[in-house]
Amino acid sequence: MTYEHIEVKPIAGALGAEIEGVDLSEDIGNAVFSEIQQALHENLVIFFRDQDLTPDEHKDFGRRFGTLNIHPQYVPLDGHPEILPVLKEPEDTLNIGASWHTDVSFLEQPSMGSILYAHEVPRAGGDTMFANQYLAYESLSEGMREMLADMTAVHSDRVLSNPSSAANRNEGRSTLIREEAMTDEEIVNEHPIVRTHVETGRKCLYVNRAFTTRFSGMTEEESKPLLEFLYAHAARPEFTCRFRWEKHSVAFWDNRCTQHYALNDYPGQRRAMHRVTVNGERPV
Ligand code: SIN
Repeated sequence: MTYEHIEVKPIAGALGAEIEGVDLSEDIGNAVFSEIQQALHENLVIFFRDQDLTPDEHKDFGRRFGTLNIHPQYVPLDGHPEILPVLKEPEDTLNIGASWHTDVSFLEQPSMGSILYAHEVPRAGGDTMFANQYLAYESLSEGMREMLADMTAVHSDRVLSNPSSAANRNEGRSTLIREEAMTDEEIVNEHPIVRTHVETGRKCLYVNRAFTTRFSGMTEEESKPLLEFLYAHAARPEFTCRFRWEKHSVAFWDNRCTQHYALNDYPGQRRAMHRVTVNGERPV
């Protein structure tokens, strides 16, 4: 596709592009909006530099793409329930998102996309990696694709809500889980392992290490070997890109067809971001 209003510069072969020529704090018109949407569909994750966004402007941009999610577990930004502070203080040992995952896949209608805005970044480190799940699906053998075609998997929030592990995480981390969310009651939903993106019509792999616990109708032990293969396959280096943050960068990823991984490689430094998460539809 050619673009008239924005410039789109891919950063890797698999996915990811930097977008130039747009100020996200402004009320973007329909022509720019549809080019951003197109760039997201073509590149799966898009990046903007040097943006100056208030929390309200950040939310307004997100609302162009759908309703906003209020995270069921994390403590939100004061006065802004739709903003998740992604914060690591110098004394913290843990960050959020340090394993390959797609956001809130345990919900019945998981997120369509997340928009992360950098307020403060380490001198070096704290990059985010992304992986293209269309490529992950398309590069499986025909036999494997046929086997997975009608299978579903169970996704659970227990890694976030389980009382003992959540409490332990709160010890080493500044993005906190709410006390009342630490409960043995899990949010559990089943989703197809191969989902079809509603806007592009393409099939992609939809299981992730953080939230997928087993195949439907099988035990965790029975599911583990094949799930481990799929997790490793989904994050093969040739399916990925890596984004180096600067202060005031924005990353907008499509949670339906990507996974991401936040590197925890900047001990003693501060990283402060705000995330707006756009609701999506039930995977099919
Ligand atoms: C996340 O998983 O949403 C956090 C990503 C990041 O901090 O880079």
